[in-house]
Amino acid sequence: MNENLNVKEILEWYLTAGVDETCGDEPFALRQEKTDAKVISTQIPKQIEPLKKIEETPRLATTELAQATVSACQNARELCKKAETIAALKELVEGFDGCSLKLTANKTVFGYGNEHAKLLLIGEAPGADEDRSGIPFVGRSGQLLEKMLNAVGVKREECFITNVLPWRPPGNRTPTEGEIAVCLPFLKRQIELVNPEIIMILGGSAANALLDNGEPISKLRGKWLEYKTQEGKKIPVLASFHPAYLLRNSGQKAKAWVDMLRMKQKLCNS
Ligand code: URA
Repeated sequence: MNENLNVKEILEWYLTAGVDETCGDEPFALRQEKTDAKVISTQIPKQIEPLKKIEETPRLATTELAQATVSACQNARELCKKAETIAALKELVEGFDGCSLKLTANKTVFGYGNEHAKLLLIGEAPGADEDRSGIPFVGRSGQLLEKMLNAVGVKREECFITNVLPWRPPGNRTPTEGEIAVCLPFLKRQIELVNPEIIMILGGSAANALLDNGEPISKLRGKWLEYKTQEGKKIPVLASFHPAYLLRNSGQKAKAWVDMLRMKQKLCNS
């Protein structure tokens, strides 16, 4: 290691790379083989071997990844068919190994709250606080969400709150399309089992995933949309800004307030 680097610089470098917390006192390499660990030499070899022809390797890797994603989606859908209750589904999701996000996450953050809720709220993915506790929306975004709900007379305990992804993407990076596709069956099954009157989606990424469109949240928010379950039930959906976005852009809170009032009005009429 370069001796001129100080600890502050090293930590900043880690943060930039998305490593923002430790999970143990001893460092370890997640991908390193348990046996026969190789020591990587920092010395430059005297004779550099000529590059081997790699031919089709990159395309093969892409295909393998796509195939793995397709079969993980299929597994997820099959598992969902077996789950007749929220508790059973939670157990199946916790035991599911088809999404690599699970490797870096501390906990599976499954939906939480009233299993018979009229209002189901959907966020994007757990953050650091949720990853530690295993409960969705408990960090700063969650606290703002709770205040917004309370302001229109809705208690958090009345709702069921979940995310598109049950595992935190490292460093809160944007989830890939493959990760979303693999986890979507679990979200859809939660919707079927809770069977809410209204769905409120928080943020563009979650809205795009569930509604399967690419519209920006600025266009989607504030109007009643519809989600159709596999069983054919049509559920009114209202998309709004993600609380994390509102924490950074307080000027948009007025629109989010309008959305909350709209949601509450529908809830009262349902
Ligand atoms: N942001 C989300 O989208 N979900 C959480 O659970 C927390 C923060």
